[in-house]
Amino acid sequence: MSFDLVLFGGTGDLAWRKLMPALFQAFRHGTLPEGGRIIGVGRDDASHEDYRQRIGERLAQVETAKRPNPDEFAKFASLLYYQRMDVSKSEDFQALKRTLAERDADTVVMYLATAPTLFTQVIEQLQAAALNSPRTRIVLEKPLGYDLASNRAINSKVGEVFDENQVFRIDHYLGKPSVQNLMALRFGNAIFEPLLRRENVANIQITLAEELGVEKRGPFYDNTGALRDMVQNHALQLLCAIGMEPPISDHADAIRDEKLKVLRALKPWTPETLTQHSVRGQYDAGTINGQRVPAYRDEQGVNPETHTETFVALRTEIVSWRWAGVPFYIRTGKRLAGRDGRIVINFRPVPHSIFKLPGGGAANQLVINLQPRDGLELHLMAQGANNRRNMDALSSVQLDLDFDKRFGSERVGAYERLLLDVIDGRLNLFVRADEQEEAWRWVEPLIEYWKQDSSGPRSYPSGTWGPSASSAMIARDGYHWSEES
Ligand code: BG6
Repeated sequence: MSFDLVLFGGTGDLAWRKLMPALFQAFRHGTLPEGGRIIGVGRDDASHEDYRQRIGERLAQVETAKRPNPDEFAKFASLLYYQRMDVSKSEDFQALKRTLAERDADTVVMYLATAPTLFTQVIEQLQAAALNSPRTRIVLEKPLGYDLASNRAINSKVGEVFDENQVFRIDHYLGKPSVQNLMALRFGNAIFEPLLRRENVANIQITLAEELGVEKRGPFYDNTGALRDMVQNHALQLLCAIGMEPPISDHADAIRDEKLKVLRALKPWTPETLTQHSVRGQYDAGTINGQRVPAYRDEQGVNPETHTETFVALRTEIVSWRWAGVPFYIRTGKRLAGRDGRIVINFRPVPHSIFKLPGGGAANQLVINLQPRDGLELHLMAQGANNRRNMDALSSVQLDLDFDKRFGSERVGAYERLLLDVIDGRLNLFVRADEQEEAWRWVEPLIEYWKQDSSGPRSYPSGTWGPSASSAMIARDGYHWSEES
């Protein structure tokens, strides 16, 4: 199968950091179909050779195991082409059309790794140049809009030009092996699924913590904030993966229908829950790994008076027979105490204990580690400790599965997986328009509430787990975040 992958934003940050290294890995693993071209689009005047050289320089900087040797790079470079374009000019789309006609590939992928403000324009230009034939697929990177209205505007424009099954909305978390493992855990094993319901589960905690600050993305991030950057997409997708009913098949729409139901079942916000069940924070100066780091307000490109949140903690519920009454806590932030992506399922304690349990009754816990470790921990009680004074006391032990150790280098990275899925036309790991709109609809009251709340985000020192209000929020239900146990 031949393909042309047209990368709008081909000289931009995403292409640079993620897409080109991922495409090279796919090439190295022999999974990139033969006979393809990768056409980087940019505004600069550059030749194919200049572009290949720049990509070569970039790939020479990736971690050693993923770096090409000269021979490999020469072969990979022969797939790379460059197309100078000004996306406001229709003649440049005609030129692109001529480039594509040279090959007449089976599949043409238009990857929009550009600022989202250009999406509508590029899509209109593709339509005007008749570059939207049924063998075209369009990939849209997040953020897809800024709120529900702007998201709808983009999706309705895309819908005028492409059929929904030609549209690949990326949420790179869905491409992570650890997130796919979550689906495998739930729907590839019979033993966990019956336990995952309100009768057995006390609460579920989703944590997406980063040590990094905003890096060089200050201007973008200051207009975005953690709610739009991480919660509306990644965290809600994880919530869907852990909360959804078993899909009837692995067909993309079967999976997406179930995720949509979860989003529709999220408890609507009320004036009371907006104040009680949401916390926003912003990092102050502090210490990360022994290094002093500046406050968010002092980062480059950030307004010194900014109220943008770099931390969010929320409590919600999925109002359904399976989950009604079970709190789902979501927490994400930058400059936190560690890089830690995990879902913790806290089970209810035994109904009547004949043992002395530590801490008055530690309950079972299933921890799904997403990153940096990818694995599974099952915390159980056992009578292991040889305590002569307290012979019937139980201790907590854990079964610990490390998928990185078990599967090692055979694992495929998120972008590599998603790029191959686009080329092969597999939509399972991409977000449908209605799902995305529903997620925006749910976060919108929070956006509005924070806009009007002049007190702004609470500050937290870099290197901590966020504002203390986040612990207080969950303590009101009688629980604590998993690292506080
Ligand atoms: C991106 C956000 O979508 O996800 C970034 O825009 C964030 O702000 C990143 O750092 C986190 O991704 P990962 O894969 O490093 O957890």
